[in-house]
Amino acid sequence: MCGIVGAVAQRNIVSVLIEGLRRLEYRGYDSCGVAVLAGGEPHRARSVSRVADLDAQVGEARLEGVTGIAHTRWATHGAPVTDNAHPIFSRDAVALVHNGIIENFESLREVLRGKGYEFVTQTDTEVIAHLIHSLYRGSLYDAVCEAVKQLHGAYAIAVVHKNEPNTVVGARQGSPLVVGLGAGENFLASDALALAGSTERFVFLEEGDVTELTLGGVRIRDREGRDAEREVRTVHAYGGAVELGPYRHFMQKEIFEQPRAIADTVPQTDTFDAPLFGDAAEAAFREIDSLLILACGTSHYSGLTAKYWLESIAKIPTQVEIASEYRYRDSVPNPKALVVVISQSGETADTLAALKHAQKLGHRHTLSICNVSTSAMVRLTEMAFLTRAGQEIGVASTKAFTTQLVALFSLAVTLGKLRGHVDAAAEADYVKHLRHLPAALNSVLALEPQIIAWSEEFSRKENALFLGRGMHYPIALEGALKLKEISYIHAEAYPAGELKHGPLALVTEAMPVVTVAPNDALLEKLKSNIQEVRARGGQLYVFADADTRIVNGEGIHVIRMPEHYGMLSPILHVVPLQLLAYHTACARGTDVDKPRNLAKSVTVE
Ligand code: F6R
Repeated sequence: MCGIVGAVAQRNIVSVLIEGLRRLEYRGYDSCGVAVLAGGEPHRARSVSRVADLDAQVGEARLEGVTGIAHTRWATHGAPVTDNAHPIFSRDAVALVHNGIIENFESLREVLRGKGYEFVTQTDTEVIAHLIHSLYRGSLYDAVCEAVKQLHGAYAIAVVHKNEPNTVVGARQGSPLVVGLGAGENFLASDALALAGSTERFVFLEEGDVTELTLGGVRIRDREGRDAEREVRTVHAYGGAVELGPYRHFMQKEIFEQPRAIADTVPQTDTFDAPLFGDAAEAAFREIDSLLILACGTSHYSGLTAKYWLESIAKIPTQVEIASEYRYRDSVPNPKALVVVISQSGETADTLAALKHAQKLGHRHTLSICNVSTSAMVRLTEMAFLTRAGQEIGVASTKAFTTQLVALFSLAVTLGKLRGHVDAAAEADYVKHLRHLPAALNSVLALEPQIIAWSEEFSRKENALFLGRGMHYPIALEGALKLKEISYIHAEAYPAGELKHGPLALVTEAMPVVTVAPNDALLEKLKSNIQEVRARGGQLYVFADADTRIVNGEGIHVIRMPEHYGMLSPILHVVPLQLLAYHTACARGTDVDKPRNLAKSVTVE
């Protein structure tokens, strides 16, 4: 999704800006641009291609400056064309970059047109640039403070003015923005990752903050316009994590990193107790009587899987909702429910908004399960459990998902123990199985050659069905999502028992039906569902546990999973589905790490 980088220094900062954009590239974008102040004017270069192309343009144009801003754009208002790419100018005096959406841009545009401003883009961003220009009375900081009072929506901005050659001003509301502190130079970015290599000292701006960066320092005003102090935090974690190594794509690398990511995420303690989830958890976990899980996309599917564990192991009623739906419906708040938000990035706008909505409704106990320690979500919740997946670059989530499952399983065991449903022997058994997961996963990853053979056939299909039952139904959902988002094959998932209630009508010889078949209590039912498909000529692709006695035959292709893994089986069964999606996408020649229309961190509603 959109990315911002800004810098003010005593050296040419164009390479800092371009490198920052490169580090944000993986999030997905459709155009990019950079502007610097030089010779009393803003100068810019913009591209509807990659950052590498922008870099070449900048080199050819010899764009240089000590103060500048840069942007990767993921189009919301207006097509991804050069005119709509940021930085957006106002009367060759103001240059501005913007993440997010301004909801009242149409009314602001009318007012500004009335004042003689001409609009040359289809973006909502242009109103901010003109608004700041119209309010400028000699201080960019003051003009931005005035302007943000008139903006409705979620945004992060960085802006420069030709009259202030050593100043960058930023503001945020609902979209992340961090200040990077250097020696005699300062930086701004939508993610600290963009500034790796430039600084390790960061200030994470709060909602409504406006900041002014100069060579001498950084000033911040809060949403009431009062001078504010914010904590300076040192973050080392960002250096050099974005190497591809021997892999063809980041998605493949991240699939193969899962044994390590899971080993790092499994709690290192021999017993699972509340403090694993933060200092407040001891008291909070004793007070709660249910769980409300809020998340989007793949993270939502980890919540759906966890519902089975939480209700089975901890016997605690659990509701799982898509964050963007929850926030807009009338719900009945239960202050004794623990609200759990699950997110790889911790910046997903819909999940953040759902969390704030729940808090507004009176939910006091909140827990985030998140992969980014410095994210807004972690900062907003009472408790947090950090997954240790490491940076995930591929847009399609893989290791973030399986580490979320580990976190959620640990939560189920912890709550089960606290509620008297998990005794010491059962706890020790769960811990043992969690610890053995990395080894079990390695055996699953070794199935890759067999999956590649299947993917050749899949690459020629335009539709696929995925079936699962019980806690493997969310795994079927995740398998279908992975396939559709990176290979663009239409895929849908059903609980296998639902097939006869409608989707069976789709089954013909042309329809591959992927089936997740663990050796669990539902196996016999699933076998009947398999027969329903076979009887209609459907082609079955079954991931079956060793002792299921489902065998290769006419129209049934079987890949045997190395071992049955009981309650933790979903963590193993999702991996071949990730590999199937990955290799099918490779066979179709799609842009696996940056699928069309998608972004890594969805920071707009
Ligand atoms: C799919 C995928 C998305 C994300 C969703 C939520 O592969 O990655 O569906 O899971 O956008 O993102 P986070 O987890 O960052 O809140």
